[in-house]
Amino acid sequence: MNIEIIRTPSELRARAFALRAGGERIGLVPTMGALHEGHLSLLRIARPLCDMLIMSIFVNPTQFGVGEDLESYPRNEESDLAQAEKCGVDIAFCPSPEAMYPSGYQTALTLPTLAAPLCGAKRPGHFDGVATVVSKLWNAALPHVAVFGEKDFQQLAILRQLSLDLDFGIEVLGGPIIREEDGLALSSRNVYLSQEERAQAPRLRQGLLAAEQRYSEGATDAVALLSAARAIIDAAPLARIEYLQLRNATSLAEVQEVTAPTLLAVAARFGGTRLIDNLVLHPCPPQA
Ligand code: PAF
Repeated sequence: MNIEIIRTPSELRARAFALRAGGERIGLVPTMGALHEGHLSLLRIARPLCDMLIMSIFVNPTQFGVGEDLESYPRNEESDLAQAEKCGVDIAFCPSPEAMYPSGYQTALTLPTLAAPLCGAKRPGHFDGVATVVSKLWNAALPHVAVFGEKDFQQLAILRQLSLDLDFGIEVLGGPIIREEDGLALSSRNVYLSQEERAQAPRLRQGLLAAEQRYSEGATDAVALLSAARAIIDAAPLARIEYLQLRNATSLAEVQEVTAPTLLAVAARFGGTRLIDNLVLHPCPPQA
């Protein structure tokens, strides 16, 4: 394997300083491993935008809540590294939890408004953990550009704000959701689904598409759009909707009427597995 593996933030930072001093443009794709086509698509977006492509693999304990799947989260570093290499990753950053959070570690970041709704409401502290670890990754890898998946739309909004607020000056890009043939969004957690749950999981996407269809037919109010989505998702007996909401795509403020780009986001449990999906409704330009 030719991919370079670095395991401590200080080593990565020293390497990144040297790269920057040599005029190299650095791209970073942070991951928690268990790579699938969704992650690989982010690597393919980042690859032509930089000279040195860094991918991190770190199952970040601070973004998992009590009773969540930190211990059982799928881990397979060897196969992840092989796939990353094929996508042109130059450096894999694979730190241990102790290297990222040594004894005595205490700093955390909070974005109270963007982190409050949607997944933040159900997973208290989750986005503090994400913002904190991504800041640490950015400080170590010193990237010019960083790419994250649009499936975690709220995470992407938070990380864009983080780059602005803390003057990281990093270009934060989103990569489109990659799906199975039946529409289910790829996720490392799909492996937890039973056969029956897996068969019903595409209902999430179908519900979102039903709302989009109503929108294209002229409905713009939240009640009509959300009830179109809910009817389809509720028809899956194993789906328990956690939230189904329309939110402004930039501020994530709740929306009653679609007048600006609007996020339609859903989270639902299928048994013990929590799945999320989303799409963005774009207002048509006024007819001339
Ligand atoms: O999206 C993820 O996989 C994680 O939240 C991230 C951005 C790698 C931070 O741990």
